[in-house]
Amino acid sequence: MNLLVIGSGGREHALVWKLAQSPHVTRMWCGPGNAGIQQEQTEKTKRPVECVNIGAEDLPKLLAFAQEKKPDLTVVGPDNPLALGIVDLFQKNGLRIWGPNRKAVQFESSKAFSQRFMEKYGIPTAAAGTFSDANEAKKFGAKFGGKCAVKVDGLALGKGVLICSSEGEVNKAIDDILVNKAFGEAGSRVVIQEFLEGIEISLHALCDGKTAKLFPTSQDHKRALNGDEGLNTGGMGAYSPAPFLSEAKLADASRAILDPWRRGCAAEGIDFRGIIYPGVMLTKTGPRVLEFNARFGDPETQVYLTRLENDLVELLDASANGTLDKFELRWSPLASVCVVMASGGYPRSYAKGKPIRGLPEAARLSNVKVFHAGSVRAGEQIVTSGGRVLGVTAWGKDLRGARDAAYAAAEKLHFDGAHFRRDIAAKAVG
Ligand code: AMP
Ligand code: GLY
Repeated sequence: MNLLVIGSGGREHALVWKLAQSPHVTRMWCGPGNAGIQQEQTEKTKRPVECVNIGAEDLPKLLAFAQEKKPDLTVVGPDNPLALGIVDLFQKNGLRIWGPNRKAVQFESSKAFSQRFMEKYGIPTAAAGTFSDANEAKKFGAKFGGKCAVKVDGLALGKGVLICSSEGEVNKAIDDILVNKAFGEAGSRVVIQEFLEGIEISLHALCDGKTAKLFPTSQDHKRALNGDEGLNTGGMGAYSPAPFLSEAKLADASRAILDPWRRGCAAEGIDFRGIIYPGVMLTKTGPRVLEFNARFGDPETQVYLTRLENDLVELLDASANGTLDKFELRWSPLASVCVVMASGGYPRSYAKGKPIRGLPEAARLSNVKVFHAGSVRAGEQIVTSGGRVLGVTAWGKDLRGARDAAYAAAEKLHFDGAHFRRDIAAKAVG
């Protein structure tokens, strides 16, 4: 099979790395990819993965490329092309593609849609309201004494959730979104949720329109600084498994969340083929869904795919075909930890073009894989090109071993201004 992967982050590097191991794959392209993806090759044919300079949101160019090269399957990493309708577009043109279609991707592209869906089908979530009128929204926020999450309805590059702790903050957040249009059209509605306390985990399930296969637990670290301080980011590190849910509790959470979700999809005529990724708060009264994503998490993918024992090509193919019931997911008993190295200043503005040193040394370590996110080749060098630069991932017999190995590898890697959290998985190892 020939595959086209869309995206350029750490998640996409992990996808390419895992897909390239499949004996089914002869040739791979990635648009636009990054310097790490460019270094991968297919295991079967030893052919380098070809990065093509087409942005993940440039649907016309991606379509033209796919029409020319005729990949047997296109795999979509990020949310934006999904929300723009790449799946419907490719299918209309007779091309096979993996990911949710436009109707199904609403779980990610509209928080108001997800909230209404959760309430209608009895999925445990936060008490919430959806508003387009600022005064109504403020009245609702006041009910929680200002302790709530104010969320932009549409996609907002991961910046559309404002956690508030006073009425003043809530009112400002509402004015920014609904009145001053700080998020443009994405912010024509807000969802206001009560503030939930607890431990936050990520769930992922691979779906084929009928069957949903749950992954093990993982946890992301969204704040920029140690101790969950600082600004929200795309994710500064992840690990799997997360020890906060026993197998039995995970099965309970799956029943409480995925069973009604599947019933709701059937009732609404939503043919969901892809990854559904609920962000879940483990509260004193049980798991509650904060939001749904309709794609692989980043950096959760980096830890999941270093544990997955199945052939990922077969799984994604089955997800697209509706034959997932024939597969059992198999996971390595090893634990995996990913430490994200970010550019100085991230998630605020940061410089690009800083040479990355130590990659060959880190590549020689066993049980370590350095996934690239914001990197690009500049002549003989690999330089930084984004906020999250590397996802240093390691595995070991337990979380402590995996964590030590990931940090030992991170110590070998350098670029000007690099910063990373020192406490990824720290709470889990005690
Ligand atoms: P979301 O994009 O909806 O997952 O929100 C981003 C982050 O904000 C989440 O990962 C949580 O850490 C936090 N968050 C969102 N909603 C709530 C809530 N209702 N209560 C507490 N924290 C929340
Ligand atoms: N890990 C956070 C996200 O992918 O949204």
